[in-house]
Amino acid sequence: MKAKIGIINVSDRASKGIYEDLPGKAILSTLQEYLVSPFETSYAVIPDEQNLIESTLIQFCEEGCSLVVTSGGTGPSPRDVTTEATEAVCEKLLPGFGELMRRESLKYVPTAILSRQTAGIRGHTLIINLPGKPKAIRECLDAVFPAVPYCIDLIGGTYLETNESVIKAFRPK
Ligand code: MTE
Repeated sequence: MKAKIGIINVSDRASKGIYEDLPGKAILSTLQEYLVSPFETSYAVIPDEQNLIESTLIQFCEEGCSLVVTSGGTGPSPRDVTTEATEAVCEKLLPGFGELMRRESLKYVPTAILSRQTAGIRGHTLIINLPGKPKAIRECLDAVFPAVPYCIDLIGGTYLETNESVIKAFRPK
């Protein structure tokens, strides 16, 4: 079965065309490298408005996405509300994702502690927040993705198969 994966770049400036949508493109190219099983994407570039982030997340969950990856809006500035939107739509939070991504990110930048990125479950969808810096996408996804396919199995999403020479999914026996 073909998986559906949502990508949401949350950025006032990218949504107005002031910045190129580099993080969204980085998420897509990373997933294309990781996955050998087929997938289609739902894609959005939206401003940092909590209601709009929540409604886009809900829409992608209802469209049957097994995974939704967001970029941006996880920091401390007043307009950073992606974390709040994620927490509002999820039934369960998975704080281990944020903990691991921050730990890995600290190897690259001391400001990694400024990201409030998290992850959680809504229905059959796993939602993961990434910071908005294009280079943060790979740094964070490489850390957590080994646990993603099994998490999606557990919530009844679509089976994801990875290219093991790029990233190895861990499924406990
Ligand atoms: N994590 C990684 N891996 N690489 C980065 O460059 N930037 C940090 C942090 N996490 C960064 C990172 C910075 S500077 C900020 S302000 C926070 O993520 C929040 O970013 P966001 O508001 O774009 O989500």
